Amino acid sequence: MRAIVMTGVGGPEVLVPTEAPRPAAGAGELVVRAEAVPVLYPETAIRAGTFPTPAEPPFVFGFQSAGTVTETGAGVETGLVGRRVVVATNGFGAYAEYVVAPAVQATLIPDGVDTAVAAAVLMSGSVAAALTDTAALTRDETVLVEAAATGVGAYLTQYAARVGARVIATAGGPAKAAQARKFGAEVIDHNDLAWTDRLRDVLGATTLDVVFDSIGGTATPALLDLMTPVRGRMLGYGFLSGGPAPITAIDLVNRGLTLIGCAGPAWLAKVAGYRAQVLDEVADGTLEPLLDTILPLDQAARAHELIEQRATFGTIVLRPHHT
Ligand SMILES: NC(=O)c1ccc[n+]([C@@H]2O[C@H](COP(=O)([O-])OP(=O)(O)OC[C@H]3O[C@@H](n4cnc5c(N)ncnc54)[C@H](OP(=O)(O)O)[C@@H]3O)[C@@H](O)[C@H]2O)c1
Repeated sequence: MRAIVMTGVGGPEVLVPTEAPRPAAGAGELVVRAEAVPVLYPETAIRAGTFPTPAEPPFVFGFQSAGTVTETGAGVETGLVGRRVVVATNGFGAYAEYVVAPAVQATLIPDGVDTAVAAAVLMSGSVAAALTDTAALTRDETVLVEAAATGVGAYLTQYAARVGARVIATAGGPAKAAQARKFGAEVIDHNDLAWTDRLRDVLGATTLDVVFDSIGGTATPALLDLMTPVRGRMLGYGFLSGGPAPITAIDLVNRGLTLIGCAGPAWLAKVAGYRAQVLDEVADGTLEPLLDTILPLDQAARAHELIEQRATFGTIVLRPHHT
C-alpha cells in the first residue's frame, strides 16, 4: 500500500511517499481503508522535533484517519466491518491507505456527515469541547481565545459564543481575523507584537474570566494583569510561539488566579470522551466544521508546509488513491 514515512526529524521533506506492508488487525484492533487523513498541527511539531517522536524513524507517520472498517481483530465486534469511523492510532501509522488502530479509539461517523469533514473536525473539535467544559464557562463571563481563526481556537470560539460569553479572540492578519469574527468574536491581530496592549484597550474596565492559551511564550505573563482576580482561570494547551509561558506560582498566587494544564496522556483520554459529541454536533448543524482543502496522500509534505506558513483556513485532509 501507499504510505508516508517519516525518515527522520526535520523539515517537511522528511515525509516521503513509499510502499509499505498493509497492516492486519491484532486483538482489540481494527483496520480501516482510509478515505480522509487529517493533517494536524501537533504532527508538524513531532516532524520538526519540537515534540518527542512516538517511535524511532523511519515509521509510517500520523495520528488519525477516517474511512471504512475492513477487518476486526479478536475481541472486536465484527458488526463494525463496513461502518465509517474516524480512528486514532497509537501515535503513528495514519498517513497510509490502510490504518490499524485500537477499536476503542474508533468513533462512528453519523449519517449525513462527510468522511473528510469528520476527519477534519475530530481532533480540534474534541479538544475545544473538553477545554470549554473544563473552564466551566458561564454566560456572564469574558473569554480570550488565542489563534481563533482555525483549529481548536475556532471551535472554542463557537462553543464560548454558544454559552453566551463575551469572546475576544486573536488571529493573524485581516483574512484570519474575518474568519474568527464570523464565529462571534471581537478580534485582535496577534501579529502586532503589542497585541496585549490592544487587548487592554478592548477590555476597558472589564477583565478576562477565562483565557484559553495556545500561544504561550513571552506574551502570556502580560495577560495575568488583565484577568479577574480570584475567579480568573487560564487553560494552557499549546505553545504556538515555541515555548511555554514563563509564569511562576507566585504570579498566580498573588493574583488569586488558576492555571489549568491541558496536555498529556490523562488530558487526551478526557478529550477522547468528546469525540462522538463533536461529530453529532456537526451532524445537527450546531458546530461549523473547518475543512481547508483535500490533497492527495503523496502531498503530505506540502500540507505540512502550508500549515507552517499559516496559510490554512481549516484542516487539510489527505486522500489516499487506492489501487
Ligand atoms: N493540548 C491538546 O490537547 C492539544 C491538542 C491539539 C492541538 N494543541 C495545540 O493547540 C495549538 C493549536 O493547534 P491547532 O490544531 O488548533 O492548530 P491550527 O489552528 O490548525 O493552526 C495553528 C494556527 O495558529 C496560529 N499560529 C501559528 N503560529 C503562531 C504563533 N507563533 N503565534 C500565534 N499564532 C500562531 C495560526 O493562525 P494565524 O494565521 O491566525 O496566526 C495557525 O492557523 C497548537 O499549539 C497545538 O499543539 C493542543
